[in-house]
Amino acid sequence: MQMQHLPSVVALLASCWTFCDAAGDWCYQSQFTCERQCNAPEKWNHANGACAGKSQSPINIVTRKTLKDERLTPVEFANYQQIFRGTIKNNGHSVQVGVPHLSTISGGGLPSTYKAVQFHLHWGNNGGPGSEHTIDGEQYPMELHIVHMKHRYNDLVTALADPEGVAVLGFFYEMSNSANRKYDPIISALRSIKTTNANTSLPPTSLAQLIPPEHNLTSFYRYKGSLTTPGCTEAVVWTLFENPIPLSFEQLRAFSELKFHDGKAMVGTFRPVQPLNGRRVFRSGSAVVSVSSRLLMAGLAMALGLSRLN
Ligand SMILES: *[C@@H]1O[C@H](CO)[C@@H](O)[C@H](O)[C@H]1NC(C)=O
Ligand SMILES: *[C@@H]1O[C@H](CO)[C@@H](O)[C@H](O)[C@H]1NC(C)=O
Ligand SMILES: [Zn+2]
Repeated sequence: MQMQHLPSVVALLASCWTFCDAAGDWCYQSQFTCERQCNAPEKWNHANGACAGKSQSPINIVTRKTLKDERLTPVEFANYQQIFRGTIKNNGHSVQVGVPHLSTISGGGLPSTYKAVQFHLHWGNNGGPGSEHTIDGEQYPMELHIVHMKHRYNDLVTALADPEGVAVLGFFYEMSNSANRKYDPIISALRSIKTTNANTSLPPTSLAQLIPPEHNLTSFYRYKGSLTTPGCTEAVVWTLFENPIPLSFEQLRAFSELKFHDGKAMVGTFRPVQPLNGRRVFRSGSAVVSVSSRLLMAGLAMALGLSRLN
């Protein structure tokens, strides 16, 4: 009985693989089916060879292996309060908002001043795990990427030819009990861009409105990596902030209402974590290290005990 079924199973698998090998476009793992011809993340190097590079993103950050770097002073934000009327678009892989190149970042150990170009998000399924980077193996429900390019460039293509041409600020989200009203304009706009290539204009907003206040952004991680979608260009200085942005379950769930090109739910829009290949991950002075912070507490308790004895 078993043996009779075997050949048909093998034939089915073989035909599926043949389809996938012939594919041209790229997709997330959540989109992969035998019927759909697309390259899931393990095959993104078919879409672009750079995706098999040695300095790819995202990564898992093992906090106890990060190196404290005193040069990682707080990032200086300029014109992040600037109000703009952006266009929010379902681009078939994410939602993306182009921003006027007026907001800049500098300091924080960045090699240059960078200006904001666009922001987009990566998320899971109905508030489930969906961030690209993970911290000590924890995957957050969503991750915001604010993409910047070096001040002297005028387009991303040129900036991507410079190994430090692009700086991306990454922010994690966490589920909260109450809605984050600052996100109402974006969440409401999602209703109008459910289908791929749909776009709509956002009510006046600013980048500062989307991220935690500056005094909550002093703890971050820094490493050199790549774009997390094909071409996977290794030209990105990454900054990942420890302090997450709160959103309610309903707000997170709204992103899963969007549709991929084929009409299926746009969920699981993250690339799996990539090997470090010997790269160093740095942390700012105040970023937390999970294990040693516990040791510090133990040390503190001991010190207190000793002082009492004295
Ligand atoms: C938004 O959609 C309109 C109508 O489909 C189109 O003409 C316009 O180019 C789109 N804008 C963007 C930024 O994609
Ligand atoms: C800012 O940080 C404080 C202290 O860690 C925290 O209580 C507060 O919720 C944070 N605020 C935001 C908006 O992240
Ligand atoms: Zn991204």
